[in-house]
Amino acid sequence: MNQTINDLKTRRSIRKFKDEQISDEDLKIILETGTYAPTGRGAQSPKIVVIQDEETIKELSAWNRSFFPVEVPDDLDPFYGAKTLLIVLADSEMPTWVEDGASVLTVLVNAAHAVGVGSCWIHRARDEFASPKGKELLKEWGIPERYEGIGHVVLGYPDMEAPEPLPRKEDYIHFVD
Ligand SMILES: Cc1cc2nc3c(=O)[nH]c(=O)nc-3n(C[C@H](O)[C@H](O)[C@H](O)COP(=O)(O)O)c2cc1C
Repeated sequence: MNQTINDLKTRRSIRKFKDEQISDEDLKIILETGTYAPTGRGAQSPKIVVIQDEETIKELSAWNRSFFPVEVPDDLDPFYGAKTLLIVLADSEMPTWVEDGASVLTVLVNAAHAVGVGSCWIHRARDEFASPKGKELLKEWGIPERYEGIGHVVLGYPDMEAPEPLPRKEDYIHFVD
């Protein structure tokens, strides 16, 4: 099978990582590939924030957990102990900002898989960066306030077998005569 098609079909969300940081080389490839994601009008509206500081990731994990719609245990780590956290933000003044951010996230997770890095797309970035703390963080990071959160990607070398994908639903593809 064509390598790209194979990679796209075999990528699975990884939720257990080895206790080692990913190499700078792998990170660079993943990030650079992410910047080639299609975006509306080719405007490249998203930004990819990269965090590898353990304390910061821990803090952001607790913050992310606070946005779960249901009560969850205090020790639940929504970032699964990953040592690299990417946050995709997008410029809300662009008409396609949500789609642009999702496009970048999709490319990031697939690029990671292509170089043997496990990843998982993590939700609740929209809530985070709409909050006062989110606005504060943007300021601290030197990013304009109009940027909104789209999603996170956690990265690490997999410490689990990739799970079997669910069967694809029968009516996923709908041909019109
Ligand atoms: C918009 C979106 C939000 C997601 N949020 C989370 C999340 O917060 N936590 C998590 O563990 N997985 C999250 N995922 C991963 C999905 O659960 C996963 O892609 C899905 O179960 C299919 O599994 P696969 O990625 O292994 O094919 C998210 C995926 C998407 C596209």
